[in-house]
Amino acid sequence: MMRMIDLIEKKKKRENLTKEEIDFLVHNYVNKTIPDYQMSAFLMAVYFNGMNHDEIFDLTNAMLNSGETIDLSSIEGVKVDKHSTGGVGDKTSLVVGPLAASFGVKIAKMSGRGLGHTGGTLDKLESIPGFQIEISTEDFFKQVNEIGIAIIGQSKEVVPADKLLYALRDVTGTVDSIPLIASSIMSKKLASGTDYIVLDVKVGSGAFMKNVDEATILAKTMVELGKKANRPTIATLTNMEQPLGCAVGNALEVIEAIDTLKGKGPKDFTELCIDLTTEILVIAGVAQNEEEGKEMVVSAMHDGRGLNKLKEMVKWQHGDESAIDDYSLLPTAQEVIDLVFEGNETAFISHIDALQIGEAAMLLGAGRATKEEKIDPAVGIYLHKKVGDMLHPQDVLATIYTNGQKTEEAIQMVLDAYEMSSEKEDCPNIIIQTIK
Ligand code: URA
Repeated sequence: MMRMIDLIEKKKKRENLTKEEIDFLVHNYVNKTIPDYQMSAFLMAVYFNGMNHDEIFDLTNAMLNSGETIDLSSIEGVKVDKHSTGGVGDKTSLVVGPLAASFGVKIAKMSGRGLGHTGGTLDKLESIPGFQIEISTEDFFKQVNEIGIAIIGQSKEVVPADKLLYALRDVTGTVDSIPLIASSIMSKKLASGTDYIVLDVKVGSGAFMKNVDEATILAKTMVELGKKANRPTIATLTNMEQPLGCAVGNALEVIEAIDTLKGKGPKDFTELCIDLTTEILVIAGVAQNEEEGKEMVVSAMHDGRGLNKLKEMVKWQHGDESAIDDYSLLPTAQEVIDLVFEGNETAFISHIDALQIGEAAMLLGAGRATKEEKIDPAVGIYLHKKVGDMLHPQDVLATIYTNGQKTEEAIQMVLDAYEMSSEKEDCPNIIIQTIK
């Protein structure tokens, strides 16, 4: 008879587990015959001793098979899912989705809510008055067939094993393990039923992966898993040393996404959106190569095609589409506070700690520390200055949008997140490399 204690011992001794053993531990953890303390010990053994490619593939499949999978076969055309490993100020799906859909790629996306310092796409969309993220499966398919895009919340029990394991990893110091992250992400992506997967793997102080070497291994592992499962996957490593773009907070990020679809977005965020949409057009076979894809994306940003697609989606999902042209219809904070640079001489920004900015936004109410907490869509932080920018005394560094919750603490965190230098630092490239 198979026993969990023997599997823990095996992993402790760096031995490899068989498919049957991995199926056993996932299945019995989900049906609660394996207790948390044994699974915790196993996760820690994986954290230290890793898993080989076959084990990671078997773990991904065992997790995938723990729940329902989405059948998108009634949606015509090529379906692509874009997924980010999570960052601060990451509103990329709001731009990349509509741009790709404007070229006929089908974006049938089930997104998540934010937890901790990272925001969730659903929370951002819900800051548009009336926007519905809960729609029936039938309406979801109809919408994607008619307009090419829908972004909704998960209705089915997709990968319940991940929900349980992620919660346990969160409290046992085992989140940042490559085999565990890769299987967690890819089991959900494979369950989502799309033909192709485009991953945005964040690297830096604001991400799970703190350096390029680790992130490269994670990206290669996930690309390999996609290939083995016959779902071609590409992964782009992108910089998360500082927050992405300038806006952090739900309504503020929606505004920044709309500005970007109007061709007026911040440089780093615009570049990332163009790159990821180009990858989607190429993998979906809509563009012959990257050069052609990029030209197409840039033109759709400037002629309003992407923006019109976002408007269509908002309208179909019962949101007030006039808010896309008139930002005063979006939630606004009662108090707006500018934080100024108090130095006496000019200086340059050398670093902005993304994690601290994310946590400051959470204190203001933009994010939630526990799943049950309500968020405030209006609050957040706008960074006027980013790494490499020059500062003169009394320049505004950042603006705080608050409704009075923990404002002083958040202000201090934002100020502490900035590091200055007398020498100009180069702004890091947003795109590090793409792994196919
Ligand atoms: N995102 C996930 O979905 N899972 C992880 O393990 C890490 C990031």
